[in-house]
Amino acid sequence: MEKIVLETDLEGVDLLFRGKVRDIYDLGDKLLIVVTDRVSAFDLILPTGIPYKGKLLNQMSAYWFNFTEDIIPNHMITTDIEEFPEPLGEYSELLRGRSMLVRKADRIDVESVVRGYVSGSAWEEYQLNGSICGITLPLGLVESEKLSEPIFTPAIKASTGHDVNVSEEKIVELIGKDLTEEMKEKSIRIYEKAFKKAESKGILIADSKFEFGMFEGELILIDELLTPDSSRFWSIKDYLPGVSQKSFDKQFIRDYLKNIKWNREPPAPALPADIVQGTTQKYLEAYERIADGKLL
Ligand SMILES: Nc1ncnc2c1ncn2[C@@H]1O[C@H](COP(=O)(O)OP(=O)(O)OP(=O)(O)O)[C@@H](O)[C@H]1O
Ligand SMILES: [Mg+2]
Repeated sequence: MEKIVLETDLEGVDLLFRGKVRDIYDLGDKLLIVVTDRVSAFDLILPTGIPYKGKLLNQMSAYWFNFTEDIIPNHMITTDIEEFPEPLGEYSELLRGRSMLVRKADRIDVESVVRGYVSGSAWEEYQLNGSICGITLPLGLVESEKLSEPIFTPAIKASTGHDVNVSEEKIVELIGKDLTEEMKEKSIRIYEKAFKKAESKGILIADSKFEFGMFEGELILIDELLTPDSSRFWSIKDYLPGVSQKSFDKQFIRDYLKNIKWNREPPAPALPADIVQGTTQKYLEAYERIADGKLL
């Protein structure tokens, strides 16, 4: 049986912080990103882990970092635990498959979002004022409709933890014109290249969030890349404009939580075994389709 990892505690290594899904350790000039099997729904972490989720997400990011290297360099050093520095050798079993050694960059505090479809906060904004992040869109779009071309819809992290959509001009004010242009151009190219690849495997990447940092004077891609946690994945087979789409990976969980009429207040409920198994299957399927390969 695959061991589920809900939280890591590497003694003798500095925990920088825990996100909803990842535990980040500080190794001086490098970071160790450990992807756990935690899953969140409606912004809360559930008490139940999803077997293989951490490994799949870590390896999916690694796949995409290699795939987009011709567009922009990234923070990945290795996912091979044999190459990790001491004292990590001691934790090999725990870290295998689910962790990535990365270059520590100066993070740019912008969520660089690219959207090919109108969904989520973009759909909400569009209904209110016909535009997204200051970009005026054609009249009469329906929910989940494909845009004529992908658009750059940046956001900044608010202190409450929720991201706030802003205009490109706002980003220019924050980080300058050149950097904004470079981030936008790279983000759209990454999205387009990945979109084609996933589309050929029956998955639509409706939108995705990229993070960037500066490393040795150069703009690099950091964080996770094109995983279902940072992107909307939809099944092409089920795609139907005009309504909200099913989430490729989390739909079983969302449906279950709706069925039991959870009020979305903490504590989040545990998941039954069949929902967990179904969700693992979806993550496996996403990975196998996209990376055409098996899990390490
Ligand atoms: N190479 C890197 N150099 C510096 N910071 C990085 C690097 N890679 C990722 N980060 C930062 O590490 C953090 C990872 O946190 P993580 O995404 O797990 O949690 P979060 O963003 O707080 O919450 P959420 O779980 O909702 O995403 C992010 O702030 C990200 O910007
Ligand atoms: Mg994050």
